[in-house]
Amino acid sequence: MVSAPAEKRIDEAAGLKIRRVWKEFTSLDGGATPGAVAVSDVTLSIAPGELVSIVGPSGCGKSTLLRMTAGLIAPSSGEILIGNQPITGPSAERGLVFQDPSLFPWLTVRRNIEAGLVARGVLRENRHEVDEFMRLVGLESFANSFPHHLSGGMAQRVALARALINRPRILLLDEPLGALDAFTRMRMQDEVLRLWQARGTTMLFVTHDIDEAIYMSERIVIMTQRPGKIEQIIPVDLARPRDRSSDEFLSLRSDILETLHFAGRK
Ligand SMILES: Nc1ncnc2c1ncn2[C@@H]1O[C@H](COP(=O)(O)OP(=O)(O)O)[C@@H](O)[C@H]1O
Ligand SMILES: [Mg+2]
Repeated sequence: MVSAPAEKRIDEAAGLKIRRVWKEFTSLDGGATPGAVAVSDVTLSIAPGELVSIVGPSGCGKSTLLRMTAGLIAPSSGEILIGNQPITGPSAERGLVFQDPSLFPWLTVRRNIEAGLVARGVLRENRHEVDEFMRLVGLESFANSFPHHLSGGMAQRVALARALINRPRILLLDEPLGALDAFTRMRMQDEVLRLWQARGTTMLFVTHDIDEAIYMSERIVIMTQRPGKIEQIIPVDLARPRDRSSDEFLSLRSDILETLHFAGRK
């Protein structure tokens, strides 16, 4: 059998199933803190290769849900499956990108991207892929630059490449563009969409920017305040590339705002 060349290989995207998940934070002595339910009874299925956003006000449990999916913390009850595998802890098959790219300041762009491979102990056999992933995020001419020479958008591209080089079956993004200025943010939205289309990776994208969610996702999950639960799931059937000023876009936007009670009409 002849295997496909590295450049042609597509990550094997996985579906995600979140079933009746609750998360209650407990105090150090193990007792429940009153009102400490951060996520209550969340059920959500994401198809392989789907891009789903979660929007909701600060403190509604978005990051908690993402951290449970990453395996960084365990649900108090319920289960989360990747494909058919229950999540028991962190794994490279679930890539994570946060608002702060957290690059190693003493390492070059190339070494920062390689760090994803070092963490898995597969640098020797996969080192040749670093160039591929630097090209993928358009950073090949910055291979030897250090993080303090990069703009915020470029640093976030390094973080994306570092997550993608492990060929995750799902990419978990927690407000990854939240610290960028408006113009860089729009460019990076296109960049993430291009990566999604090129690699077909399943993506769960947390944002509190409604326009960003409509521009990017196939479905939008709206979460509401504590105890964080899913209020509504909205499919976005707009053709791509999406026009942020089209009537359909704006009407979807006002529907979502109304659901979030920001429109003041409820
Ligand atoms: N480690 C923790 N211990 C106690 N409470 C927490 C912890 N992490 C998050 N919370 C609480 O859970 C709720 C949801 O937090 P979070 O998931 O970070 O919200 P979001 O990402 O939507 O802003 C918040 O009220 C927060 O204070
Ligand atoms: Mg958060």
